[in-house]
Amino acid sequence: PVPERVADLLGRMTVAEKVGQMLQLDARGDYEGDILHKHVGSILHTSPHRLERAHELVQQTRLRIPLLVGEDCIHGHSFYEGATIFPTQLGMAASWDPGLVEQAARITAVEAAATGVHWTFSPVLCIARDLRWGRVDETFGEDPYLIGELASAMVRGYQGSGFDDPTAVLATAKHFAGYSETQGGRDASEADISRRKLRSWFLPPFERVAKEGCATFMLGYQTMDGVPITINDWLLNDVLRGEWGYTGTLITDWDNVGRMVWEQKVQPDHAHAAAAAVRAGNDMVMTTPQFFEGAQEAIDRGLLAESDLDRAVARILTLKFELGLFENPRRPTLDRDAALIGSAAHAEANLELTRRSLVLLRNTGALPLAGGFTARDDAGRATGAGADRPRRVAVVGPLADAAQAQLGDWAGSSGQADWLPDGHPRHMISTVLDGLRDLTPQDWTLTSALGAEIVTLVTPPEGDTLPDGQPRPKIAVPCEPDAELIGEAVAQAREADYVVAVVGDQVELVGEYKSTATLELVGGQVALLDALAETGTPLVVVVMASKPLVLPTSALAADALLWVANPGMRGGQAIAELLLGLIEPSGRLPISFARHVGQQPTYYNQVRGQHGTRYADLTQEPAFVFGEGLSYSSVEYAGLEVLDPEVAADGVVRARVTLANTGARPVRETVQVYVSDSVTSASWADKELKGYRQVDLEPGARTVVELDLPVAACTIVDREGRRVVEPGAFELLVGPSSRDADLLRAGFEVLPG
Ligand code: IFM
Repeated sequence: PVPERVADLLGRMTVAEKVGQMLQLDARGDYEGDILHKHVGSILHTSPHRLERAHELVQQTRLRIPLLVGEDCIHGHSFYEGATIFPTQLGMAASWDPGLVEQAARITAVEAAATGVHWTFSPVLCIARDLRWGRVDETFGEDPYLIGELASAMVRGYQGSGFDDPTAVLATAKHFAGYSETQGGRDASEADISRRKLRSWFLPPFERVAKEGCATFMLGYQTMDGVPITINDWLLNDVLRGEWGYTGTLITDWDNVGRMVWEQKVQPDHAHAAAAAVRAGNDMVMTTPQFFEGAQEAIDRGLLAESDLDRAVARILTLKFELGLFENPRRPTLDRDAALIGSAAHAEANLELTRRSLVLLRNTGALPLAGGFTARDDAGRATGAGADRPRRVAVVGPLADAAQAQLGDWAGSSGQADWLPDGHPRHMISTVLDGLRDLTPQDWTLTSALGAEIVTLVTPPEGDTLPDGQPRPKIAVPCEPDAELIGEAVAQAREADYVVAVVGDQVELVGEYKSTATLELVGGQVALLDALAETGTPLVVVVMASKPLVLPTSALAADALLWVANPGMRGGQAIAELLLGLIEPSGRLPISFARHVGQQPTYYNQVRGQHGTRYADLTQEPAFVFGEGLSYSSVEYAGLEVLDPEVAADGVVRARVTLANTGARPVRETVQVYVSDSVTSASWADKELKGYRQVDLEPGARTVVELDLPVAACTIVDREGRRVVEPGAFELLVGPSSRDADLLRAGFEVLPG
């Protein structure tokens, strides 16, 4: 049995061997010496060649304890050439579809496990509220319930049926907790969050996956209340280990332990830093090589007890035994050939999720192009009805054929690091231009004027690298719009029946330590859209962006507007299918869009304030709200009714609503269920998402949707920080988005218990 094997091995280990097991090192560095002499327990960012060498070296160590191999498989096993790259997490969230998200994670696990990866640092459960933060794309958006649903699905997908399954990989819930709430959206700064606020919104998704068996948790980078989160005793020991009973493994983020010494300056030396990190409950220390000497010194100086080390090492060894690594360190020996990694079946599943992730935000009738198609010819091109005459489509904009931008962050973007392949094989990626070329009817004419140079990025005056050696992000220069490039696009637009403009953000300005002070389209993209709007040719704007951007009037008032996040490898195909009406738009926003960078935050579930909590010079209405998204049809909601309007605190609110597809095309409708607690003992949000149902309706169809909501979901966090249901009057709000005007309401009363 595992506990006995762990105890036996632990009993035979020296202090140095124990400390080494707690170390996870970057396999791009000098890993050979570290494995041989520091008994390193885990490596990350490896490559097939380095990994093989690492396993060989372990065989030369005294105890031959196998390595745990970690990787950032964030939206696919994206650093492995040829692997499937899905939409970013924010894109996945727009599908609101846990089944498809679970499937994406399963495929990722299968592909990662086949290359010898045991552990992925995914999913992200941070709540995205400040859109300037550089990692909004890695989140499931702004709502704790939706985050919990999708994160739980992702964990299930990664971990499969259990660690006996050779295709299971360890999942990581990160970044625990409150990391996204840093000041000004600047990555890794201080997060000013009260414990009550943490319990109200930031912790619930983590609590859910902790209780559902997510194997590991990763700490954030931020400081809270004077304490780096890595050593926050209350959060790690009282809440996570204590209240939630979590027995999984904790890993720090990148050099969190070293940074307490050299950057945050809250520990005088590495011995103190190591002692604090272990005592707080960290098990694996990511990329702090000094931890090896620091922890041993801490024991020698009496700053740390060996029993604290034993606790952490036991957890790591347990994972290794459970994964079967002592029997098969390279686990598993799966078929590594291309039929598995990046296979056609995986591409098809990716395409399905991508189709569901596209959010149509505006349509005055320009879409689907030419009224839409429903059939494909033998070559897969749109054919049949709608093509009453050949059409001409101008495809313009810097992101129309930008493979790397389409994949987004954590996808081997060039210049990020030297272990990354130089992008993926180009033929595996379908850009918007590719998609339209492949799918528009045979007799249509496609012209393109991409103008990638419309956006110029330069090295900032501070130099190429950050203090920790990371490449400093380039900055966008506010440039004079390039009249020639814009003129070319305008000339093509004038000649065309439709112009499809693909604009968005630059992958170089997205990611860890890459928060932005602005949210506007950079470079000459606004000038491009303004000029296109003036041509009078029906303008379809596709915004391919890692997060909600502040869009200009020419986009907001365009004939059609589509937001596609970073849609991954099959993005172009899915977008073209949607533009042509070969599929129905069904994505819904997992996050609100601000009208101005200074209008933030715009998330829908802010606590009730006074004076409408608004600015004097700007509406507080977001440009687009959480839950919003159009289809090519229209759906009417009617007759919301709560069947039993008085319920006990341990009861279930049973309700129903009637939906009718009143348009001419099929829809997948996301029926959203919010709850409003009329009076609360502590300030609370006016409404919160508590559930949703996805319903497929053919044209003319009508259906009654049953909605069951446990009263236990209708909690608030009271002033003492306790999660409670407060008896009294509530309202159920049901509709197609979080906007008040979209929601039907019905009251119910929770009876005193
Ligand atoms: O997993 C990531 C984390 O999200 C941010 N810092 C680096 C880690 C490992 O690459």
